[in-house]
Amino acid sequence: MNIYTGGSFNLFHEGHVELLEYCRKLAGDGQVIVALNTDDFIARFKGKAPTMTYSQRRAVLLSCKYVDNVIPNYDGEDSKPSILDAKADMIVIGMDWLDKDYCKQMSFNSEWLNKNKIALCYVPRTTGTSTTKIKEIVKNG
Ligand code: CTP
Repeated sequence: MNIYTGGSFNLFHEGHVELLEYCRKLAGDGQVIVALNTDDFIARFKGKAPTMTYSQRRAVLLSCKYVDNVIPNYDGEDSKPSILDAKADMIVIGMDWLDKDYCKQMSFNSEWLNKNKIALCYVPRTTGTSTTKIKEIVKNG
């Protein structure tokens, strides 16, 4: 099964590792594909540029043993073609997306998922760590 997941992965941490490990387990012999938000995407979505550039974040993700491929997730672009290109069987994201309308952001809806036989899976965050919290810790010393 091919798993498609996405995010900014700005400051890579154990929460990301656990999500990707879970994706790997679900994938079995299939692939784990990460749609990585571009710098422009993050600048618009979060109001400022990421600490690490797209190419730095991509390099870290590609070094993770759970990840097979990293593709760009551009601001304002329809994600459906890249999800189909990835031959995704399942889209996996953290449960923090439950109240942020992931479908709308990615330009698909449940009819499109059903038509293409793609499951959408929300996984619990197993740790309270986040890029935002790491930035606060660094800032406060
Ligand atoms: N994620 C997770 N567990 C965490 C942190 C993130 O499972 N503790 C998941 C998110 O739900 C998302 C993916 O990792 O599916 C990428 O999340 P991202 O937003 O890049 O990471 P955060 O650390 O949450 O970044 P920020 O604080 O900037 O929102």
